[in-house]
Amino acid sequence: MANWNQSIRLENLEQILDQFEYQLKKQTSLEGLAELRREYLGKKSEINQALRGLGNASLEERKSYGQKINQIKDQMIRLAADREKELASQTTDWGRLDLSAPLGKSNQPKARLHPISNILLEITELAGKLGYRVTDGPEVETDWYNFTALNMDEDHPARDGWDTFYLDQYHEGKQMLARTHTSPVQIRYLENNQLPIKVLVPGKVYRNEDEDSTHLWNFYQLEGLVVDRGVSMADLRGAIQSILMELLDDQIETRLRPSFFPFTEPSVEIDVKYQGQWLELAGGGMVHPKILENQGIDPDIYQGFAFGFGLDRIAAVKYGVEDVRYFWRPDYRFLTQRFVR
Ligand code: PHE
Repeated sequence: MANWNQSIRLENLEQILDQFEYQLKKQTSLEGLAELRREYLGKKSEINQALRGLGNASLEERKSYGQKINQIKDQMIRLAADREKELASQTTDWGRLDLSAPLGKSNQPKARLHPISNILLEITELAGKLGYRVTDGPEVETDWYNFTALNMDEDHPARDGWDTFYLDQYHEGKQMLARTHTSPVQIRYLENNQLPIKVLVPGKVYRNEDEDSTHLWNFYQLEGLVVDRGVSMADLRGAIQSILMELLDDQIETRLRPSFFPFTEPSVEIDVKYQGQWLELAGGGMVHPKILENQGIDPDIYQGFAFGFGLDRIAAVKYGVEDVRYFWRPDYRFLTQRFVR
């Protein structure tokens, strides 16, 4: 019978324990840790070979060595478990995310809604409260809906303010584009719905622009369109005021400044005072009579107002985020924060 402890000595195992401890400390990923476990504690590991080899040892040897080897093994198991806890709290290893684990049972941190998704949900909720329908439209638009139908003919200078990304696709001879605003949905909605109209349109828009802390090349807008008898600028202001009271808080104040949009007349910029600071949040105005006429609506009987504001900017002021770019960077530390007002 072979003398088992000639090949596997206890001091070897102590060394292996030290080595394992050192390797665990060096390991920074859960995957790497799993590999170490296989190597040091798997079937073919030296420690398990030593235990198996005990079968060939005498009863005496089995007692004294067996206990010692098991102690070392237990210690290794404990070390690995401790390191696993440590690593799991530092990193989130999505590669090990177990989607089949029952909710709340997995050791993964709970998922959260993205702050912009939160705002989108709030919009659906407040729309119900304030009597708006919610709709959307295509992100890839035709030149017609994005510009011409909104009173911007081909060489209208206002088009310059809305540079975007063009597709290799044409509609009626014109290149299709990533919509620059949610306003084309005004036209689409007017074409397909009966008066009176009261609708909110949240959606993504695109601009060929350099990014900075308040601008993105791809962001969300919230468009509003109301068409009814006897609608005025006062209603526009009231609508903006009540929506922002829901999204921000009821202490907000609004202020209108004259502006220009080809599809509204008169047009305004709408500023909001939130927590002591005036912010430029929205554009809007009375729907241009020509746009109503194009839809067969008599502007002497029906009037409308429309507005559009940037949702990312609202989310930024609401959650105290100083740079809108944070929202769309895949930084786990930012995204797992609790977003509270
Ligand atoms: N669509 C305009 C923009 O993106 C905002 C706007 C919407 C202005 C509705 C007037 C009416 O800047």
